[in-house]
Amino acid sequence: MSSEPEVKVVLRPLLARIPVARIPLVGHTLDYMSDPLDFMRRQHAIGPVTERRMMGSTWTLLTGPDACEAALRNADKAFANGPGWGFLVGPFFDRGLMLLDFAEHHRHRLLLQQAFTRPRIEGYVEQLAPAVGRGLDAWAAQGTVEGTFLAYPALKELTLDLATQIFMGGADLADHEELDALNDAFIACVQAGGSLLRLDLPGTRWRRAHRGRRLLEEFLLRHLPAKRATEGDDLFSVLCHLRTEDGDTFSDQDIVNHMIFLLMAAHDTSTITVTTVLQHLGQHPEWQERCRQESLALPEHPTLAELESLTSLDLVIKESLRLVPPVPVLARRTVKETEVLGVHIPQGRLTAVMVHLSHHLPQLWSSPDRFDPERFSEPRREDKSHRYAWEPFGGGVHKCLGMAFAGAEVTTILHQLLRRFEWQIDADYVAPLDYHSLPFPADGLPIELHPYEARTLA
Ligand code: HEM
Repeated sequence: MSSEPEVKVVLRPLLARIPVARIPLVGHTLDYMSDPLDFMRRQHAIGPVTERRMMGSTWTLLTGPDACEAALRNADKAFANGPGWGFLVGPFFDRGLMLLDFAEHHRHRLLLQQAFTRPRIEGYVEQLAPAVGRGLDAWAAQGTVEGTFLAYPALKELTLDLATQIFMGGADLADHEELDALNDAFIACVQAGGSLLRLDLPGTRWRRAHRGRRLLEEFLLRHLPAKRATEGDDLFSVLCHLRTEDGDTFSDQDIVNHMIFLLMAAHDTSTITVTTVLQHLGQHPEWQERCRQESLALPEHPTLAELESLTSLDLVIKESLRLVPPVPVLARRTVKETEVLGVHIPQGRLTAVMVHLSHHLPQLWSSPDRFDPERFSEPRREDKSHRYAWEPFGGGVHKCLGMAFAGAEVTTILHQLLRRFEWQIDADYVAPLDYHSLPFPADGLPIELHPYEARTLA
């Protein structure tokens, strides 16, 4: 995991030199990957509904809040998720909630949303706080907290550990070796989605991901009977006991599919959010101190309601999600012909809903490229300039089901980081974001990290 940033650093300059237009299979894919925002701006200058060849197919690209809204509201049910996302992430997250459509999606969402009610989130927060504490103790114990520290890989490891704890019920399910194998399997599934070579051949990411998916399925199916037999408070147990008023429940295979997807949905998204917040707080010490003072006024392990009282941190998180939305583009495919803003889209067309651009449009946001968390506070509320101005969690029937959980997890991590550490990043630093799958800083985000108490006492 920790070697990933170095590999990407080497790849990026190479990719930038490849004459994109001459590669028929990838078309504008690399153009997008090297600078997505610039790519989206250029498309939007042509119009809100345009076409491009990417990854061997023709895509319709939707840019701007009106075009994004049309696809996400999906009034005529023309846009489907399964054949859209399935094309991008491959078969490794098959039948996860985001890849189901229409009546079937509705049925599964009704059941699954019971795992994300407020009382459930309060329960997860109780487990999260000590688990985050243990993770950060390990940072200190490894002696990694004086001087330059690679924040992104450390946070990635932390959020994976949290997923093991909160989603699976902790390390007692598996020994260290098996947990490592599961982590590798999971990472293989995630990485395959971004690979251009999609063949089940020896040595390819695709083959590793198939093996990874099998391993995850076997592991979850092995532990399922025990999870069904007792009522625990980890997500895996919760899923085993969900039941609607009509008596609807999940089959064993449903639970496996949802668990694998939820691990994926929760992991990189939360990691990149904390990473972006860390970067901006490191570059804006006045905001870091403002957030820290609010955190110091709360207990180390606050309740969900107390976490929600961290108003400055909330503004910073919203602004970070605006600047770097963890899911910059949402995939769809039309199941019948339709039109968006008067432009005809044929049946079977892959469609990219480019929400990232809406976050940077000057007609919706003042100085959109500037870090300015106050834009989300009253009376400015720039996010209200359009219903789809700020959409890091998507919109419509597929809007992120884990939004409240994500908020609680990200805030818990940052709350404890602020109480324990302080950090600096050069004001001119620009994160070299890699967009092969979800965005991450290719240099691992080096920060100057110090224990907070030690420095102030010195
Ligand atoms: C900051 C973190 C997160 C961000 C930015 C985020 C973003 C998104 C987005 C944009 C979608 C909509 C995709 C689409 O319309 O095609 C989505 C869907 C989803 N997310 Fe999240 N997510 C985050 C964290 C989480 C977490 C922590 C969980 C679970 C614990 C989760 C579970 C889901 C699920 C189940 C869906 C599918 C909903 C459906 O199709 O009905 N997400 N997420």
